[in-house]
Amino acid sequence: MVKTIIKFCLPYGCFYLLQKYRLKKSIAADLAGVVVRDRENALIERDNKISSTPPKSYDEIANYFIDTYNIPAQEVIDGSIPKENCDTIIAQCIRLKKPTLHLLNIGNYLGVALLYIINELKNKEISCLVTIIDPNIPHRGVTDLQTKFFDASQRFGLLKDILLIPGYSLNKSLSNDGVEFNSYNPIQNFDREVAPENVLLSLTKRQFGTFDIAILDGNHNSTYLKNEISQVDKMLNKGGLIVFDDVNDFWSPIKTTVKNFTENYQKTYDQVVYDGRILIAQKKSN
Ligand SMILES: C[S@@+](CC[C@H](N)C(=O)[O-])C[C@H]1O[C@@H](n2cnc3c(N)ncnc32)[C@H](O)[C@@H]1O
Repeated sequence: MVKTIIKFCLPYGCFYLLQKYRLKKSIAADLAGVVVRDRENALIERDNKISSTPPKSYDEIANYFIDTYNIPAQEVIDGSIPKENCDTIIAQCIRLKKPTLHLLNIGNYLGVALLYIINELKNKEISCLVTIIDPNIPHRGVTDLQTKFFDASQRFGLLKDILLIPGYSLNKSLSNDGVEFNSYNPIQNFDREVAPENVLLSLTKRQFGTFDIAILDGNHNSTYLKNEISQVDKMLNKGGLIVFDDVNDFWSPIKTTVKNFTENYQKTYDQVVYDGRILIAQKKSN
C-alpha cells in the first residue's frame, strides 16, 4: 500500500529510472547465475576428462616428474628413496596386517617414494591415511614441490586420503641440507624461504592422532633427527614402525644418530630390518 502511494507520488521520470534499475539488477543476477552454472559444469566436465590411472611401476612415477616438469632425471632419482628400499618399507607395512594404516611422512620432496609405497599397499588392499610434513621449499633445484606432487597424485589416482601440511617438522632448517644446487644458495635464500615451524609439536598440542608408520626423511641434521625421534615417538602407536632413510656411511651423522636411537630406545623399540640404507624399528606392544 505504502509502496503504491510512493509510486503514485513519484514523477514519471523517477519511476521509470527505478524500474530500469530493478530490471538491470535482475538481469545481472540472472547472468551471474548462468556464469556460476557454466563454471560448475566446466569443472564437472574437466573432472570427468582427467583420467587417473594407477602407476604400473616406480619408474613410471619418477618419469612422470622428469617428463612433465623437465626435472633432470638425476635430481628425481637421487632425491628419492630407491625402489628396492621402498620395498623394504612396504614389506614391513604388510607385516602389520592392518587394513588401514596411518602413515606420517616427514620430508616428501616430489613424493616419488610415498606414491609408490601407498600404491603398492593399495594393490594389497591396504589403504593409507597419509599425513605429510614438508616445508615446500626448493629442493635439489626443484621449486613448488607441492603442486607437482598433487598433480602426480591426481594423475595416479592417489590423491584421496592425503593430508599435506606445509611446514618444518621442528624449527626452521636450511634447504637442501645446506648444499648449493644449481647456484641456489640455501644460506643466502634462508630468509626468503617461509613455512610454519614445529609442525610435530602443533600436531601433539591439537591431539591430532597417532600413526602406525612414521618415515623420517626430512632435514638430515643429526641433532634435528634426534629431536624428531622424540616428538614422533609420542605419536607412534604401540606396534608401530619408525623408518629411517640414509642410514649409511654417506650420511654418517645420521647413521650415528640412528645407532644411538636403537641403543637408547632398546626398552621400547625392536630393530626389525636394516637393508644397508633403510632401518626400521618397531615400537614394542607392552
Ligand atoms: C630427501 S627429500 C625426501 C625424499 C622423499 N622421502 C622420497 O623419497 O620421495 C627431503 C625433503 O625434506 C624436506 N625438508 C627439509 N627440511 C625439512 C624439515 N625441517 N621438516 C620437514 N621436511 C623437511 C626437503 O625440503 C625435501 O623436500
